[in-house]
Amino acid sequence: MTAVRVYSKNPPRCMNAPTKAAAITRFHQPLAKVDIKTSESGGALYNVNIPCCANNSMNFSRPLAGRKHLDITGIAKDRTIVETLRNETSPKREHPAQPERKMPTYFLTGANRGIGLEFVRQLAVNGNNKIIAAVRSKENDYSELEALASNGNVHIIECDVSSTDSISSLSFRVAEILSKTGDSLNYLFNIAGINATSSDTSLSLDPASLQRHMDINVLGPAKIVETLRQYLARGAVVMNMTSGLASLTIAKDMTKCCTYSISKAAQNMLTLHQARDLKKQAIVICMDPGWVKTRMGGKGAFVEPEVSIKGMLEVIEGLKKEDTGKFYRFDGSQCQW
Ligand SMILES: NC(=O)c1ccc[n+]([C@@H]2O[C@H](COP(=O)([O-])OP(=O)(O)OC[C@H]3O[C@@H](n4cnc5c(N)ncnc54)[C@H](OP(=O)(O)O)[C@@H]3O)[C@@H](O)[C@H]2O)c1
Repeated sequence: MTAVRVYSKNPPRCMNAPTKAAAITRFHQPLAKVDIKTSESGGALYNVNIPCCANNSMNFSRPLAGRKHLDITGIAKDRTIVETLRNETSPKREHPAQPERKMPTYFLTGANRGIGLEFVRQLAVNGNNKIIAAVRSKENDYSELEALASNGNVHIIECDVSSTDSISSLSFRVAEILSKTGDSLNYLFNIAGINATSSDTSLSLDPASLQRHMDINVLGPAKIVETLRQYLARGAVVMNMTSGLASLTIAKDMTKCCTYSISKAAQNMLTLHQARDLKKQAIVICMDPGWVKTRMGGKGAFVEPEVSIKGMLEVIEGLKKEDTGKFYRFDGSQCQW
């Protein structure tokens, strides 16, 4: 007989409101202990005793051998009650080096065009991926993204990262999508960004433009993470889309894009703070996608979006816990700060 714990990001439906609130604050705390009896044929009987619920017994015919994590979503009577069974005999980790990614869930901003759209395009190919794609406004053109959503694994929502109201209401909209399957976010990519006054120098800074860049490129990613933190899976990856122009080393002789560089350098510092503040929960990195052919990158850019995003996804896939707080280029090399 093996003891396992039942984890749930969503409290059981049978809980009353105060108990539910308490369960939510105990996010990722075990809700119950479970005894597993393994039969000779490899089938298993689970006795799940969840506070305030009747004793649920579930009989599985699937072999247990070799399993350390059991996802019984969809089998349990109430899918929101039991999400994951974690075998207590497996080594305890502060958070896994890699998130649990059977059906990974991604959240990203700036998904209607450019780099964000290409991320969705590459991720949506795999039907196991669930993608929550945020666009600034559905009043702008997002037809290419909409076409990708026909696969059924792309959920389009609105989020203007320059608006604290919009970000606040994001929590509800993300929760609504996640609650359908009891998923949490394995990946959070802050991609939306602007470089609106690229010809400026340190001698011609426009206060309003600097403020806008700070709002979108720095405060936006900060507030998105603050708001969605409650939905991050253990070992989730948070990636802030920064730039080589954020590097004090690489951009030291740059003669323009001063406002943008300042805001992206600030985003890099934000990344370091987030990495420290989420140390027990997530891997936080920032990435330079290269000079990419998008509306922002322009026609003179060197890197095709497909190449940049493919490279970044490979880097992200290979991240380990100890990589948190690092600054990567899309090709996997580390950028100098
Ligand atoms: N392209 C490059 O060479 C390059 C190099 C280094 C870093 N980056 C970074 O990569 C990211 C994406 O750039 P890109 O090349 O794909 O640029 P892009 O083609 O100009 O796309 C920018 C994206 O950000 C969105 N966005 C802008 N302001 C927003 C707001 N307030 N709220 C929500 N979304 C907003 C845009 O949405 P709308 O369509 O609604 O405006 C669009 O989806 C940016 O953070 C950029 O700094 C790009």
